[in-house]
Amino acid sequence: MDPLHWLDERADTRRAAGLRRELRPRAAETPAIDLASNDYLGLVRHPEVLAGAIAAVHRWGTGATGSRLVTGTTEDHARLEQELAEFVGAEAGLVFSSGYTANLGVVTALAGRGALVVSDAGSHASLVDACRLSRARVAIAAHRDPAAVDRLLAARTEERALVLTDSVFSADGDLAPLVELHRVARANGAVLVVDEAHGLGVRGRGGRGLVHELGLSGAPDLVVTATLSKSFAAQGGAVLASERVRAHLVDAARTFIFDTGLAPAAVGAARAALAVLRREPELAGRVRERAAALARIAGVGEPDSAVVPVILGDAAAAFDAAQACRGLGVEVGCFRPPTVAEGTARLRLTARADLTDAELTVIAGVLGEVLDLARERVAS
Ligand SMILES: Cc1ncc(COP(=O)(O)O)c(C=O)c1O
Repeated sequence: MDPLHWLDERADTRRAAGLRRELRPRAAETPAIDLASNDYLGLVRHPEVLAGAIAAVHRWGTGATGSRLVTGTTEDHARLEQELAEFVGAEAGLVFSSGYTANLGVVTALAGRGALVVSDAGSHASLVDACRLSRARVAIAAHRDPAAVDRLLAARTEERALVLTDSVFSADGDLAPLVELHRVARANGAVLVVDEAHGLGVRGRGGRGLVHELGLSGAPDLVVTATLSKSFAAQGGAVLASERVRAHLVDAARTFIFDTGLAPAAVGAARAALAVLRREPELAGRVRERAAALARIAGVGEPDSAVVPVILGDAAAAFDAAQACRGLGVEVGCFRPPTVAEGTARLRLTARADLTDAELTVIAGVLGEVLDLARERVAS
């Protein structure tokens, strides 16, 4: 008997529900307008960012050569950590090989058996997996609901507790009530962990993130996690926190210890992207303004971030609409269950700071046509 026969059944079920996923290798040169990537600041081909990556490869080679604790920490890793921490107003930084491993590392190292982790219902999958891996008791709080978090924290028997949330939620682009969450966490002796993957480069003065915007930077009981793969046009992740937390992660975060250090090219690219953003702080405002333009075109409410969700509801309708956009030269994201809740399948448009007015005109034509049809289909 074929021990994997059930894979075909699962595939059939997903196909019938319009939930099959496929990989579409990109060509290097494509005329398509990109509204699907997370290259929010449009820096992924910026000459200085390319030069930063190339210089790092020439200096250090193509790989980090080992785990961070052995040979995988170059002087440039240390510089990037300092620069990122300084940028967001944290005491210290620690770079991981991805935002995913940064989240796993923080939560597993700061929680563990005998702790409580309270996570927003909309937290990113990497935080969800971090909860599972932590062996802590996990409680899910309603989305953006500090009162629910307060109740869960107050009723706990565990001494230690962590509260987890995205700052900008990846599927809806909405914002976490960070001031209230921090107040509630502090009142209950808990640590707040904020994933700024979609906040850095977009929110806050010069793109310093939502934590900075709300005056929470540097709080000793707040830990920021970040990815270098979105606004910073590279790859990798970071934790930005106190020296004390950083030192603990170096000792105890398994995804830091048992993982090869971030490749030098990514370090060099991220440093260069950060330098561009520091020199051109207006990029953050520009991506927000472009997002607002996309929202007007799509007929949805004003966004709080670079993410513009266009909810269609039905998974097959969303999938077909995304395909139609692609056929007309506009690449859009398509989020379906289980990434988003049942009945909320959507197109996910992401703005870039370098979207031109001419591109917006093309987008208006394409989205106008595709969304009219999709909305009619869903309504009938
Ligand atoms: C909110 C959020 N956190 C973490 C991650 C993971 O970051 P990375 O891609 O660097 O692993 C992502 C997406 O990539 C994300 O959207």
